[in-house]
Amino acid sequence: MTQDELKKAAALAALDYIEEGSIVGVGTGSTVNHFIDGLAGIKSRIRGAISSSEASARRLAAHGIPLLDLNDVTELPVYVDGADEIDSGFSMIKGGGGALTREKIVAAVANRFVCICDASKLVSPLGRFPLPVEVIPMARAQVARALAALGGEPRLREGFVTDNGNIILDVHGLSITDPLALENRIDQIVGVVTNGLFARRGADMLLLAGAGGVERRAR
Ligand code: A5P
Repeated sequence: MTQDELKKAAALAALDYIEEGSIVGVGTGSTVNHFIDGLAGIKSRIRGAISSSEASARRLAAHGIPLLDLNDVTELPVYVDGADEIDSGFSMIKGGGGALTREKIVAAVANRFVCICDASKLVSPLGRFPLPVEVIPMARAQVARALAALGGEPRLREGFVTDNGNIILDVHGLSITDPLALENRIDQIVGVVTNGLFARRGADMLLLAGAGGVERRAR
């Protein structure tokens, strides 16, 4: 199977976790795109979706899936999203698509985070994938210096602006042995909006697609 076929297998397995009549939190990325396409097939059974990005919102709307405002929602049973890397404790690096801030917000509201991945995303330790950090533009240089002081090599994602009007610094060369501590540490740097470590709010369930099928792991 190709990597894209594995992503699709994991994404379609997540449809099993959608509750009848519920609102669904929807992540961003190529794996989630398969999930959105699958969700279209059961759209009459859900109330609508909360999107984590403009890109996912466009795809949801193209399928006629109602888009809801997170501020109007009090109950979000499940959030489905991919990851750039996930470890055995279900901490993740996310934000390869630049949607990390809204992803973290929607994930924080959801009762359950279902992570959908192909098997290549399961790693130990996290950090081979450069860690995305969303930054207020005027703070770029001073945040970069602070990230370098933590041992990383921050590089500006050229030509990219987030849905929130900010920039992304991708931090290379971090060896992330304590994801929770590093997430908290980076959040303390003034000018950082969000960092792509999801350890405080990791995944609750991992649907991992490999050659032998989709493995379902719960925390
Ligand atoms: C988007 O900002 C990311 O957090 C994605 O969830 C992550 O990059 C996974 O993307 P793919 O499903 O495209 O691999």
